[in-house]
Amino acid sequence: MKCIHFTKNGERMERLQKVIAHSGVASRRKAEQLILEGRVTVNGEVVRELGTKVRPSDDVEVNGVRLEKEEPVYFILYKPRGVVSTVNDDKGRKTVANFFDHLKFRLYPVGRLDYDTSGLIIMTNDGEFANYLMHPKFKIEKKYVAKVQGAIPREKLKELEYGVQLEEGKTAPAKVNMLSFDRTKGTSIVELTIHEGRNRQVRRMFEAIGAPVIKLKREQYAFLTLTGLNAGEFRELTPKEVKQLRNMAINK
Ligand code: URA
Repeated sequence: MKCIHFTKNGERMERLQKVIAHSGVASRRKAEQLILEGRVTVNGEVVRELGTKVRPSDDVEVNGVRLEKEEPVYFILYKPRGVVSTVNDDKGRKTVANFFDHLKFRLYPVGRLDYDTSGLIIMTNDGEFANYLMHPKFKIEKKYVAKVQGAIPREKLKELEYGVQLEEGKTAPAKVNMLSFDRTKGTSIVELTIHEGRNRQVRRMFEAIGAPVIKLKREQYAFLTLTGLNAGEFRELTPKEVKQLRNMAINK
């Protein structure tokens, strides 16, 4: 797992060359060269160490020019099915970032939803905030609604709840709520709330109990829901919501 460093007041430490590269002034490689040449300062001091970690509040200058900090922005996107949760796609498919093409911000998704999964995804340019939310130790709950094949016996629902064995290990306890069963179609609608974020986790959990997923939607992320949004629409988070999310992560 990727190692993430935090300061005591909760700021995320990043490698200097990464911060320079992210700001867009140089590639990662060029940034390393600039550091080695003594052309980078942190809070006024020349730094020549490539591994140096800096916090978001540090002032970084390259060739005497301070790195611009883009205003942090936060959105909820209702991702439709048939969209990839990356910024660029080498197959030319539509990405979650494309919904924001008309805005000037470089936005990244917080976590992933599969190409075929619809639902709530947070988009931001605040990498520190995104890393908080994604860090497994903060256990942010995500609620999914799945349409699955077949009727699910009670003991199988209990398995989902207590943890099912996947290839890489047992899943953490989850909340399960059976919503309905369609006798004619032979399909069930089940609500599943998990706080882990393994790859294709919900699909694999249902597969493990013999009920393959037909359709999957993420309805809730922490306390955020899709209320008022249609597929393909987004809204900005309120400052209160951003603060609440930040506090949730830090206070856990
Ligand atoms: N679990 C899945 O299987 N797919 C998603 O997109 C999200 C969670």
